[in-house]
Amino acid sequence: MIVFLIGFMGSGKSTAGKQLALRLGYSFVDTDQLIVEKFGMTINEIFDSLGEEAFREGEASLLNELISKRDLVVSTGGGLPCYGDNMDVINNNGISVYLRLVPDALFNRLVFRKYKRPLIRDLSDEELRAFINEKLAEREPFYNKARHILDGLKVNAGELEKLVRG
Ligand code: S3P
Repeated sequence: MIVFLIGFMGSGKSTAGKQLALRLGYSFVDTDQLIVEKFGMTINEIFDSLGEEAFREGEASLLNELISKRDLVVSTGGGLPCYGDNMDVINNNGISVYLRLVPDALFNRLVFRKYKRPLIRDLSDEELRAFINEKLAEREPFYNKARHILDGLKVNAGELEKLVRG
């Protein structure tokens, strides 16, 4: 089985994913980390020198490699489910869980963690609030296709484990 954790930047996918993987005895991977290894560059460097398009292509090809694996928990980059047919690929090959947070909560988490994230690193606080509102509205139709939707503020590994074990 593959479990895909999806949601906006700062929604806690990696933290919850690592704990879930431990409980299930699965491996844990983070698509951002795999892309950094694949390109041999940081996410900021990929966006700066190759452009967002190349990053999105990298995400899609990585996803297609991951679906041949088993017993895996995948934390996906915040944009990954929202490009091409990635969300369908996710749902056809694993169990998806959307960790949902409202814009205010995302702002509080992201305001001090902007710097490794090229889409928000140069934004003022006011611009960050506007960006979160707009992007979340644009992305939620994709996130909402997830098999399960959980409150990202209350999520805990025990609850997640129960959910994915069905
Ligand atoms: C992005 C989210 C980031 C990373 C990149 C772009 C996005 O991942 O993939 O900076 O488009 O939302 P996290 O969700 O792990 O921060």
